[in-house]
Amino acid sequence: MKEHAVLVVGATSSIVRAIAVQMAQQGASLHLAARDAQEVERIAQDLSIRYQVPVSWSLVEACEYELHADLVQKAQTSMGHLDGVVIGLGELGDQQQAQVDFTHAQRIIHSNYTGVASILTHAANHLEQQGRGFIIAISSVAGDRGRQSNYVYGSAKGALSLFLQGLRNRLAKSGVHVLTVKPGFVNTKMTFGKPGLFLVADPEDVATAVLKAWRQQKNIVYTPWFWWGIMTIIRSIPEGIFKKMNL
Ligand SMILES: NC(=O)c1ccc[n+]([C@@H]2O[C@H](COP(=O)([O-])OP(=O)(O)OC[C@H]3O[C@@H](n4cnc5c(N)ncnc54)[C@H](OP(=O)(O)O)[C@@H]3O)[C@@H](O)[C@H]2O)c1
Repeated sequence: MKEHAVLVVGATSSIVRAIAVQMAQQGASLHLAARDAQEVERIAQDLSIRYQVPVSWSLVEACEYELHADLVQKAQTSMGHLDGVVIGLGELGDQQQAQVDFTHAQRIIHSNYTGVASILTHAANHLEQQGRGFIIAISSVAGDRGRQSNYVYGSAKGALSLFLQGLRNRLAKSGVHVLTVKPGFVNTKMTFGKPGLFLVADPEDVATAVLKAWRQQKNIVYTPWFWWGIMTIIRSIPEGIFKKMNL
């Protein structure tokens, strides 16, 4: 990790922040990006003081597509080079509201999919051109099968997982590693107070699993690991039965 220069997008997320902490502990230089200036500056200062590594920061808004090329450029300029990107933007939103108000649905799609695809398009071109690097992107188990209780969020994550799969196929020839992270329920502000959660993981444990999968050059990691089994069962239920279930 030492010598690595990493752009960390969505740095105010508990999961992404936990990954940034572990990377800083291992000596990486970081460029943090988030939409909350005060909070991202505070996290940048904390990481640089605590772990004695260079940490710079920028603002990012998922739907300001025209600024995403500058973000990648700024990360590269402030760290001197760019080895990889960690990205975990997203909003769970409210499924009921999204069903009656497409503006809300669109916001969920922008933050989970189109904004991430836009940033990764610029980052991928940079990494492909230099012929090495990595992308770690946080999707979700929710993208593995559409369910009535969260299909707008799930569809954005499903689209992101497919985007990453295609990107991996393209970038494998250039030595760029793409890791798709599919967490189950994680204890963060996204899930705080939500009913019906089970087997809730800590962001720190998710971060440890993500970095292990990254070191092992894995393509996809379910975290915690048992979500792979749960989703294999859920995906295998025939559609005729699945559509009648209350999920
Ligand atoms: N928690 C879970 O159970 C779970 C499960 C599966 C997947 N995930 C995924 O894990 C990732 C991290 O989520 P988290 O659980 O750590 O929740 P979180 O703390 O709410 O993190 C979401 C991040 O996305 C940022 N964000 C949301 N909308 C944005 C926008 N329009 N423009 C710029 N930034 C935006 C948030 O910024 P602010 O801090 O300013 O809001 C925050 O940095 C997300 O992609 C999420 O979908 C989470």
